[in-house]
Amino acid sequence: MIDLRSDTVTKPTEAMRKAAYKAEVGDDVYGEDPTINRLEERAAEMLGKEAALFVTSGTQGNQIAILTHCNPGDEIILEQNAHLFLYEGAAMSALAGVQPRTLPGVRGAMDPSDVAAAIRSEDIHFPETGLICLENTHNKAGGAVLPIENMKTITQIAREHHIPVHLDGARLFNASAATGISVDKYAALTDSVQFCLSKGLGAPVGSIIAGSEDFIKKARKWRKRLGGGLRQAGIIAAPGLVALEEMTERLTEDQENAELLASGISHITGLEIENKVETNIVLVNTEKAGYTAEQFLEALKDEGVLAVPFGPHTVRFVTHYPISGKDIDNVLTKIQQLVNR
Ligand SMILES: Cc1ncc(COP(=O)(O)O)c(C=O)c1O
Repeated sequence: MIDLRSDTVTKPTEAMRKAAYKAEVGDDVYGEDPTINRLEERAAEMLGKEAALFVTSGTQGNQIAILTHCNPGDEIILEQNAHLFLYEGAAMSALAGVQPRTLPGVRGAMDPSDVAAAIRSEDIHFPETGLICLENTHNKAGGAVLPIENMKTITQIAREHHIPVHLDGARLFNASAATGISVDKYAALTDSVQFCLSKGLGAPVGSIIAGSEDFIKKARKWRKRLGGGLRQAGIIAAPGLVALEEMTERLTEDQENAELLASGISHITGLEIENKVETNIVLVNTEKAGYTAEQFLEALKDEGVLAVPFGPHTVRFVTHYPISGKDIDNVLTKIQQLVNR
């Protein structure tokens, strides 16, 4: 099977497994796990933030950020296809008691003037605007990179209104690999940032959230409240450190493979590429080939390739470690055979 369902299916590298085996550990709830401490310090340094916190997943990191920034009854401005809105089980409402205010986006980017217009004025009837959330890269928009100018303008507006900005940067390192803009430049535009160690970076578990000392102190308490206080977590932090040191540069390979896949598919009659491929995600429309997404995926599975549905006629492929150019050639051959049938 060639598994292109997600970059979450990556398996830890040899170096990660060795690092986990050898990791120095302690009780992290007491702040005594040296490997966790090193990972948090290194992540904060890379992001140019005062402090960072290891969390169990991207969703937990995003939700802790919301709980830390907001009060119940607040409203959050975010793009209408944001992961936070579509795919986190309405956790922001269920856990933080906040309501989403979604705005349309172009390739995941909200229009700054829409954001400015959506910020609540002082009125007894209105919720407070407690947070603005951005997503870079944008998953539903097919791994689109949020333009840094768009982020700057929205942040400027947010700062004028004293509203914090959170960045769901689950794939922030993919954005950085695509643009050459370092992750700290993106992170500098937001008050908090979450990125995943266990997607393209290949670590088996975990995400990082980063922000000011004060933000992380409060976030640490929210993590504990949510049952996310870990003990000898150095075992899972050690692969995260390897991910940061060894896996960020190679993300350009995933991008090249995604481009290779998109280019090959674009030559197959009946299939259409829906997104501008900027990072490691390819969205393919199967309608003209006479397949629903589900039918296409069933047939593709029989050929030994896995992907996921992303709409009635949309299939999502994600490239990741250790998928190679040769694997992509194989996938293209299998897709061609399937369409020929
Ligand atoms: C943009 C984005 N944010 C957050 C998440 C959540 O990460 P996790 O699956 O680790 O909870 C994902 C996962 O795919 C994502 O794509």
